[in-house]
Amino acid sequence: MDIRTWTAVDRYITDLLVLPDSALDAALQANAAADLPPIDVSPNQGALLQLLARVQGARTILEIGTLGGYSTIWLARALPADGHLITLEADPKHAEVARSNIAYAGLADVVELRIGPALETLPRLAVEGHGPFDLIFIDADKPNNPNYFAWALKLSRPGSLIICDNVVRGGAVIDAAIDDPRVQGVRDFYELLATEPRVSATAIQTVGSKGYDGFAIALVTDGK
Ligand code: SAH
Ligand code: DHB
Ligand code: MG
Repeated sequence: MDIRTWTAVDRYITDLLVLPDSALDAALQANAAADLPPIDVSPNQGALLQLLARVQGARTILEIGTLGGYSTIWLARALPADGHLITLEADPKHAEVARSNIAYAGLADVVELRIGPALETLPRLAVEGHGPFDLIFIDADKPNNPNYFAWALKLSRPGSLIICDNVVRGGAVIDAAIDDPRVQGVRDFYELLATEPRVSATAIQTVGSKGYDGFAIALVTDGK
């Protein structure tokens, strides 16, 4: 079994279970037209994020790493009419494409896009009194995963859900010969999950059209 099979099965699942959404399709087309890297979550992963947000009853969501807003749209569609999603993106070009995709999806009033390195925009959110968020999705530069997790904890409450993408990376996470800072960022993030008393966490390996990777999911607790 290889990525061709995983991609074909993703298509089978998506064709059967993921309802067509012209705004999501249009976002992927706009991303490709603007030459954004095709590293958005897959459709069935987007549907999983949306399901988790609905199970969570999320009214406020924080996303770190917008790209063209594909995962943003999936998550924002889980929110009630008075819900709010803040998404953080460092690259102005990505942000411009995302802003247009989000507006086309009719979510301009629900989604707030903040441009700048997340380690600069996160402290501002805190100062402005944002949070606690019901759900936080970490999907930006991987070396900063430990820092983003620390911020996610600061901006959460017992009951908040923290989800982190790309925590397996083809198995690189356990390959001692790899000292890539992106992989090390994932390992350091696991260490934090393991030692942090205020979360109950697990991670799940996935295969699909994006290859072999995984999600980590952490429920914030009162630490007792
Ligand atoms: N969540 C998106 C994919 C995000 S890809 C989706 O599934 O549709 C990762 C994004 O993080 C890229 O757009 C990249 O520009 C952005 N990024 C990288 N470093 C960043 C930083 N320091 N702060 C905020 N965003 C960053
Ligand atoms: C990469 C980043 C992602 O967030 C992802 O889901 C897949 C790949 C990357 O930087 O290569
Ligand atoms: Mg990702």
